[in-house]
Amino acid sequence: MPTRIYYFSGTGNSLYVARMLAKGLGEAEVVPIPQAILQPPAAPAERIGFVFPVYMWGMPLIVERFCRGIQADSSAYCFGVVTCGGSAGGTLAQLEQTLASRNLTLAFGAVVQMPGNYTPLYGAPSETTQRKLFNQATLRLNAILEDLHASRRGQVDRGSWFGRTVMSGFVYRFGSRHLAAGDVKFFADERCNSCGLCAKVCPVGNITLQNGKPAWQHRCEQCMACLQWCPQEAIQFGPRTAGRRRYHHPESNAGHFMLR
Ligand SMILES: Cc1cc2nc3c(=O)[nH]c(=O)nc-3n(C[C@H](O)[C@H](O)[C@H](O)COP(=O)(O)O)c2cc1C
Ligand code: SF4
Ligand code: SF4
Repeated sequence: MPTRIYYFSGTGNSLYVARMLAKGLGEAEVVPIPQAILQPPAAPAERIGFVFPVYMWGMPLIVERFCRGIQADSSAYCFGVVTCGGSAGGTLAQLEQTLASRNLTLAFGAVVQMPGNYTPLYGAPSETTQRKLFNQATLRLNAILEDLHASRRGQVDRGSWFGRTVMSGFVYRFGSRHLAAGDVKFFADERCNSCGLCAKVCPVGNITLQNGKPAWQHRCEQCMACLQWCPQEAIQFGPRTAGRRRYHHPESNAGHFMLR
């Protein structure tokens, strides 16, 4: 069955998952959501996947916007796989509702735990912890692939009542409003050598270089790509990120994120 997997990723976890699912399913293309927004694929797909990280117990705003406008045949088999650092809340329930507004049914939805990448709160986990998470993720992906091969329906991990109502409802609804302008906390420290990579990896063109230094334009998705991919570790978010270990998935490189 021809499959299209739309993905969003700042540091490679979701990109890895999207690629592994495409490989396991066969006859599948992997399309970055920032690119699909600018140039929607013309050909229809029989099976459509959505793979993205959990942000504040919900969908990244760019993914929500994309799904709200997606054009697809209502008979398409839709599935979602979200990556998170430990708690997805009701993210898949949100995806389900968003797709329903386009007359699409989310047939299958699963969560895969990966290393967390939100450096404003914590540094990258140790190598040992990362290895353990990747091993668990491989087992999880194999199980997900079995379900997808069987075209399983009615199997969506919607999270607990508390996750859906309090975290994805209340916290996400109020918190996500502040993400775009929250980039005022980003700055480049004295290690910045004006290489320009941060502007190139930003999925939404939110960074311009002014006098060789990055300037954030307040339409941020908070994906952390700029902070994590800066080769000098010069990008900080508030006062506490300077000494924190950066993170990206070991099978990703900055080139995978230069989409524009
Ligand atoms: C802005 C932001 C918010 C996040 N919120 C959550 C969250 O609510 N729950 C969680 O388990 N992980 C959270 N994370 C961690 C990511 O979901 C996780 O590391 C994900 O796998 C990153 O995927 P990527 O490498 O494809 O960007 C958050 C990360 C970011 C950048
Ligand atoms: S990637 Fe880092 S070093 Fe390069 S311009 Fe941006 S902040 Fe400066
Ligand atoms: S400015 Fe940085 S955190 Fe914000 S969307 Fe661009 S790359 Fe992601």
